[in-house]
Amino acid sequence: MDFTINSFILTNITKSSQLELYTTPLIVSFKTIDVAEKGSLFVAEGGKEIPFPIKRVYWVHDAKSDGEVRGHHAHKESIQVVVPMHGKLKVELESPTGETFTYELIKPNEGLLVPPLFWRRIYMEKEGSCICFASKEYNEEDYIRDYSVFKK
Ligand code: TYD
Repeated sequence: MDFTINSFILTNITKSSQLELYTTPLIVSFKTIDVAEKGSLFVAEGGKEIPFPIKRVYWVHDAKSDGEVRGHHAHKESIQVVVPMHGKLKVELESPTGETFTYELIKPNEGLLVPPLFWRRIYMEKEGSCICFASKEYNEEDYIRDYSVFKK
């Protein structure tokens, strides 16, 4: 078996089908385990609750003010799931065709899947935090940070 060729084909099939699959935002639900008298436990696995292989996890912690905005960018290829950890998140998304979506995330057992090429603004509450699961490693080349470039 020529592993190089096969892994190349597989990578590209996975990549193109992922980009085609995720063209609209989606609320994903996590498995919840109630641990009596201790509190709840939530579980997300790549390829299951998070429907892509997870390449990176990052979190934003301790927002300095109410309504602090994070994001203000789109990703060219990375798919991400945003989950509130503490406090409420308001997420505004804009699709490549200009369709807008607004979500309020408060439940730790639910996240928002943000497809590639969606402009995002994430409004946080003071001292709030959230965690993000991404399908790609960090690469500044994957970012569109200029809104006028996004709108072209
Ligand atoms: P940025 O994505 O602009 O933050 P936010 O959208 O939450 O306001 O990232 C802030 C800085 O952190 C920027 O210089 C890029 C860097 N960064 C990394 O080095 N690795 C990462 O995984 C992320 C998400 C950001």
